[in-house]
Amino acid sequence: MNVELKNLSFDAACLARTDVLVVLVAKDFKVPATTSALGAWLQQAVKTGGLGGSGATQVQSFADPRFVAKQVVAVHVDSGDADGVRSALAACVKSLSSSNIKTVLVSVHALQLHKSSANKRDWSQALVGAIEQGSYLYTTSKSTTVGKPFKARVTICADDALALAPQFAVAKAVASGVAVAKEWANRPANLATPTHLGEQAKAMGKLRNMQVQVMGPREVAKLKMGSFMAVAQGSTEPLRFIVMQYKGAPQTQAPVVLVGKGITFDTGGISIKPSPDMDEMKYDMGGAASVLGAMQAIGELQPKVNVVALIPSCENMPDANAVKPGDVVTSMSGQTIEILNTDAEGRLILCDALTYATRYKPAHVIDVATLTGACVIALGHVRTGMFCADDALAQSLSNAGEVSGDLCWRMPLDAAYGAALKSNFADIPNIGGGRAGGAITAAKFLEKFTADFKWAHLDIAGTAWVSGSQKGSTGRPVPLLVTHVLQHAAGLAGNTKPTTASKRAAKKVS
Ligand code: BES
Ligand code: MN
Ligand code: ZN
Repeated sequence: MNVELKNLSFDAACLARTDVLVVLVAKDFKVPATTSALGAWLQQAVKTGGLGGSGATQVQSFADPRFVAKQVVAVHVDSGDADGVRSALAACVKSLSSSNIKTVLVSVHALQLHKSSANKRDWSQALVGAIEQGSYLYTTSKSTTVGKPFKARVTICADDALALAPQFAVAKAVASGVAVAKEWANRPANLATPTHLGEQAKAMGKLRNMQVQVMGPREVAKLKMGSFMAVAQGSTEPLRFIVMQYKGAPQTQAPVVLVGKGITFDTGGISIKPSPDMDEMKYDMGGAASVLGAMQAIGELQPKVNVVALIPSCENMPDANAVKPGDVVTSMSGQTIEILNTDAEGRLILCDALTYATRYKPAHVIDVATLTGACVIALGHVRTGMFCADDALAQSLSNAGEVSGDLCWRMPLDAAYGAALKSNFADIPNIGGGRAGGAITAAKFLEKFTADFKWAHLDIAGTAWVSGSQKGSTGRPVPLLVTHVLQHAAGLAGNTKPTTASKRAAKKVS
């Protein structure tokens, strides 16, 4: 994506030579004094109520021989809040992407960039995110595409546009991480196998300070990941366990560990799912895709922090060799699990990855998973379900969501929610308690594998994907993860006192 910032007066923007000039017009926007025909025209249009009134966001397009720009697009952004601007600008860029446009100038003079908005949104992420969203086009498995990939150079301008500069590089890296996540979640399962994900991770080993190791069935057996292996055994596609290490700080600094669910296709296994919409279960590796995307962004930004990514990846298939309801397996932690429903497979691969995380003595661990349909019922498609017993970590994740616009909502973890996780034949069952509170039951299961570190779980079943005519990946929660990791890094830099995690580690040693 080709986006840059420029300080430019409104008058200069109206006189700029560009293929397209996009002018954001907020309600009550006072068009600055201008010498240009376009500026005068906009002034008149706003005064007579033809532009910038309150109400729904809309886009209007003009070509006029008196204007310097070949095409002018006025975009209503109503009150000019960041979320409204993001969706209006995304729609505008999308409408431009088919034509042969080389340069786009976006006037954001109507926005109050110097003021952080009441809801904490970062303007850089809102604007750059909108351009990424509007210009994204999936092409991998199409022989012909309607429209061309958007290649234009976009310049965002205002009198004080450079006020955005510090966060702008972050926003660009986040956008490129989002693109990685979308690409992999959108690819069909036959073109996004565990092996393919491993290859993508390996390729990312080219990023500075990034080390990548990809394990197969033999290494995973050696690690005694009996739960992960049980899910994989019904498929002819070999499993992969991906380990990525970004080393941006001294080895003594405890890493953040990100764990992503990488089920490249979830049929449900022997507890098979109904046919309608089953195609969408190709996005059951959305957690893995977002962790890859976050690592891409981190690799581009090179923050002074250590981050480890762990991705258990396999298919969940019905087969003669598939795991059966009632089978008992031994997880890497030593806890035995009765698999009462083979469709509750995400927690079965994540639990072994969580146990593996212990060896890094993490500052904290965040797992990301399209884990439960119940989370979609609970929170819909707006906020990701966030489960975390540690108040400070929960606060950082909530805040990262508000800043990036990639929202989450804290869910409960009371002991009573785990009461039904009782088995007569193993230490724990993989389901319990029926449908009520199913997202929390799943979190309570995972919690049993997190005794050694601070932990948060993000259930993205409702937020990683859009169904219907706009079917496809959203790239979430890459913005949330990257913003959180950078927040954590900044906290470390500004904090010379030992962290609770390092104090705890020191106590363990002494
Ligand atoms: N991958 C699904 C969860 C899911 C459902 C993600 C819908 C996205 C959209 C997961 O593996 C699953 O099947 N969960 C079951 C759990 C149940 C058997 C306890 C579910 O949600 O029905
Ligand atoms: Mn499932
Ligand atoms: Zn699943």
